[in-house]
Amino acid sequence: MRPKVLVTREVFQETLDYLARFFEVESNQSDVPLTPAQLAERLADKDGALTVLTDRVDAPLLAQCPKLKAACNIAVGFNNFDLKACTERGVMATNTPGVLDASTADFTWALILATARRVTESEAWLRAGQWSGWRLKQFLGADVHHATLGILGMGRIGQAVARRARGFDMTVLYHNTRRLSAEVEKSCHAAYVGMDELLARSDILTLHVPYSPATHHVIGAKELTRMKPGAILINAARGGVVDDAALIEALKRGTLAAAGLDVFENEPRLNPEFLQLKNVVLTPHIASSTEVTRRKMAMTAAENLVAALTTGKPPNLLNPPA
Ligand code: DGY
Repeated sequence: MRPKVLVTREVFQETLDYLARFFEVESNQSDVPLTPAQLAERLADKDGALTVLTDRVDAPLLAQCPKLKAACNIAVGFNNFDLKACTERGVMATNTPGVLDASTADFTWALILATARRVTESEAWLRAGQWSGWRLKQFLGADVHHATLGILGMGRIGQAVARRARGFDMTVLYHNTRRLSAEVEKSCHAAYVGMDELLARSDILTLHVPYSPATHHVIGAKELTRMKPGAILINAARGGVVDDAALIEALKRGTLAAAGLDVFENEPRLNPEFLQLKNVVLTPHIASSTEVTRRKMAMTAAENLVAALTTGKPPNLLNPPA
């Protein structure tokens, strides 16, 4: 009998076709997120799951899925997985690193430029019919070129963001749990600094850390007050890395000039105060969303699932003890 797998949300047809070569596939192509109870019910007889970041894979779920051997996330982030619970239950957990770095870095730059140069704010104003003509002081923004870019979290995506800063002749500083090798620092033209220096010197601070208890509110009220007055904050990493309420206060007070945000606490129910602020650029968690990249992410997750259930050795295993 072929192993049974569940695809929890809409994917591309080629992903389903590929999985169907190996498995009996059940899929939720309606694309309405499954509730925890529905997920448990549909996973009860499954050997594997292709999941997304809205699916919580934790101890209560796993207790109801005795056959489950693999949960393969279509994302590089995996904060929807309780890895300890997966390991205890012998469930292999995987993610999709690598395939989305460049697209996510490109989008980070879209947020940096849109925020510094007030692109969405001025467009909304123009669309509202308010433009009566050119003015010298219209929508004065901040220069990106020659500014200091601070990067918190210098993994693959942070490094890709750094490399793109060269074209803007920027000074690039970074902070990371581990300092990079001299060779990688050189290739990124980035200098390692402590957290305090990063906050104090960055004109634009962009976040590329994964979300975990250790990075919860890593940018909170205290850190925001330590940032350079008039700085810009960019978050295309994960909601929860920033204390959104504290950020809203800083944006209202004007201690920060602006923020560009692709991710939020409690997505998709972001703090409604963000919608009232003009100095934020808000996008709906789409940093990796290009046609090519989202197809690659889905296929990488499917390849992980096939490898997990056929060889027990998926390429992007997050919990080897499982
Ligand atoms: C990821 O890969 O973690 C992204 O946030 C998914 O959009």
